[in-house]
Amino acid sequence: MAKKNAFYAQSGGVTAVINASACGVIETARQNKDKIGKVYAGRNGIIGALTEDLIDTSKESARNITALRHTPGGAFGSCRYKLKGIDESRAQYERLIDVFKAHNIGYFFYNGGGDSQDTAHKVSQISEELGYPITCVGIPKTVDNDLPMTDNCPGFGSVAKYIAVSTREAAYDVASMAKTSTKIFVMEVMGRHAGWIAAAAGLAKEEEADAPHIILFPEVPFDKDRFLKRVNSTVKKHGYCVIVVSEGVKYKTGKFLTDSGTKDAFGHAQLGGVAPFLANMITTELGHKHHWAVADYLQRSARHIASKTDVDQAYALGKAAVEMALKGKNAVMPIIIRTSNKPYRWKIGEAALADVANVEKMMPKNFISRNGFEITDACREYLAPLIQGEDYPPYKNGLPQYARMKNAAVPKKLKKRFRI
Ligand code: F6P
Repeated sequence: MAKKNAFYAQSGGVTAVINASACGVIETARQNKDKIGKVYAGRNGIIGALTEDLIDTSKESARNITALRHTPGGAFGSCRYKLKGIDESRAQYERLIDVFKAHNIGYFFYNGGGDSQDTAHKVSQISEELGYPITCVGIPKTVDNDLPMTDNCPGFGSVAKYIAVSTREAAYDVASMAKTSTKIFVMEVMGRHAGWIAAAAGLAKEEEADAPHIILFPEVPFDKDRFLKRVNSTVKKHGYCVIVVSEGVKYKTGKFLTDSGTKDAFGHAQLGGVAPFLANMITTELGHKHHWAVADYLQRSARHIASKTDVDQAYALGKAAVEMALKGKNAVMPIIIRTSNKPYRWKIGEAALADVANVEKMMPKNFISRNGFEITDACREYLAPLIQGEDYPPYKNGLPQYARMKNAAVPKKLKKRFRI
């Protein structure tokens, strides 16, 4: 039987290390040329499969593929696009099969978070429901660190490191200005429903007086009076106050503090703007001068300060996905298993996609201090290993040098076009 080609795609919000997983997939497939044909990447995730817009990664040099390991963003384009159930939208699935058949695709690798693993899971059901053999393996990714089953998610360690570093650096700045000028600095970080990224800022604090002085988690309902009291006492004690706030912070009623009112294709509210909201609240109520920052895309693209642990794990998961597929494992996702904390050790395990799709892992209660504004030692112990090590990209003329992909299109074979 002719060797089957593979389809690989990136989905959801990208990270500083999702391309390291792509690198792991493509390099491992190339090392197994006798068993696996070409790797076709979907341009913009699953949309590339539906519209037969495939990228021929065999046209990229080995050097360029290796450079993906240190390149942020999603090299082949990502998407927020949710496949409906097979019963609801059979045409979509029939189309996927037409495209897979036309291009002799027998392996499907989907690199994404919870919603994306739902897509991977649905595709894995194609073989059973529509009788087309496809080996389907999900590859975890999300800065939000909210996938179940895996100890942590690739992408998170690097955001965690960026946020902890930025909190510490900004705190030095505010401390210098506080006597006569800025006393408040508020930094907003990602994490729609779970406070993992906000928690990571807590790693910057080594002594009681250190920043961050206040962390606001989505898991802890926002109480304006308690918050302002804490800001006030911190300024009195230390002369300034550094606050790290998760974009997903909510009132007791469940309403986000700031919700733009728009939703993405996965049905998630578009968040953002909680930092200026809180900073203005503090100035109005307490009179202190403030500065604020929304880390936004800077945090998830900051490959220059990526965590080496994160890069290594992202690559290893991509590699493991191909190895699992070659062993004939279907509807699974490689995961990180922590085998020891001190010294930190990890290995690759395996989870069923059915157990991963659409499940969000929140911060455990014992990771948040009793007052609700700090992380605990248990949390610190969990987070600290994930930001260890640096893996600097090569620099030229003072700037990081990232891969420039050709992203050559695979000639279309189907006459019929598909509108999404
Ligand atoms: O994928 C996770 C995430 O980075 C969230 O933390 C953030 O709220 C969201 O994506 C932003 O998504 P988008 O780039 O689609 O606006």
